[in-house]
Amino acid sequence: MNCELPPPRLIDRFGRLHNNLRISVTDRCNIRCFYCMPADNIEFMPKAHLLTFEEIERIVRVSTTLGIDRVRLTGGEPLVRRDLHELVRLLAAVPGIRDIGLTTNGILLEEQAPLLKDAGLQRLNVSLDALDPEIFKAVTRRDGFERVLAGIEAARRCGFSPIKLNAVSVRGLTEDQIVPFGHLARETATVVRFIEFMPLDADGQWQRDKVLFAHEIIAILESEFGPLLPVARKTSEPLAGDLLPVIGGISTQAPAQDYEFADGRGRIGLIASVSQPFCASCNRFRLTADGKFRNCLFSHEETDVKTTIRSGGTDETIAQLMLDCIAAKNEGHEINTANFVQPDRPMHSIGG
Ligand code: 5AD
Ligand code: SF4
Repeated sequence: MNCELPPPRLIDRFGRLHNNLRISVTDRCNIRCFYCMPADNIEFMPKAHLLTFEEIERIVRVSTTLGIDRVRLTGGEPLVRRDLHELVRLLAAVPGIRDIGLTTNGILLEEQAPLLKDAGLQRLNVSLDALDPEIFKAVTRRDGFERVLAGIEAARRCGFSPIKLNAVSVRGLTEDQIVPFGHLARETATVVRFIEFMPLDADGQWQRDKVLFAHEIIAILESEFGPLLPVARKTSEPLAGDLLPVIGGISTQAPAQDYEFADGRGRIGLIASVSQPFCASCNRFRLTADGKFRNCLFSHEETDVKTTIRSGGTDETIAQLMLDCIAAKNEGHEINTANFVQPDRPMHSIGG
């Protein structure tokens, strides 16, 4: 009888299997969304502290031995990292990686979309919180709205499909944008997902009463377009041959709950990170630009992998660091409890 043990997997104390690695490649950004970055006096990571593309590739190779099969590049703004497409090319060649995504603010997309496509990028999410240039500027504290639209158009021309738009919704700021986004979703092939504002900003501006909740967004859309019908939650964008949904009954739900308009024209997604946390089905593991593993957006501890790599650590040691980090993952984010403490790192240095 063959008694060889199966290879270890990134399974935490709550039975969650992690197959999705989010890699932040820089903490820098060319705009200043208030829910993510401070307005000024930002101390960015020195270049020498950033993982090189080769170091990132090595970590990804090791991670595939533990079951990671999809990666997403984030920032800060990932496209400000020079030659990012070269990293995409490296990762696309890693055996076991079946899916590569990128979340960008779109400002530099017009120039880079063809390079990214050619390098093997499969999925593209663009963060765009407003369709009105003035509100875009109020959120981002920078110009650039037209460039984002040009970036989305260029990406479409290169064949990225679908392109998903992420719109963070903030009470008192973006209510008026919801119906225009509804029209966009109904009239174009764009997938629009509204995200509840989470306490990850750098200036401590988050307050519960600034969160525009998913049920309120739905009500605004319904008053304009009629009833919205929830679409049965699919397992998260399954890939051919995906085993996850059948392993131990572990759910791989996507964070977005989709809704269809009753007249059958278009759909919309809601990411209710605050009002309906999806921690129980979280399959995400994170690597920061300065080489720390994080098991949650909201964790207070990190596992340093850069020092291990730069002092000659083996692949086995890197794998063990990942397993240790996953073993320490908490059950959920606790935003809705009195115990909640916002992490020290703001969103731009964690990676969304
Ligand atoms: N709350 C909700 N979403 C956020 N994002 C960044 N900061 C926050 C926050 N505080 C989103 C961005 C982007 C993705 C990386 O995360 O809009 O789409
Ligand atoms: Fe930049 Fe993205 Fe943060 Fe906005 S959310 S400041 S685009 S990194």
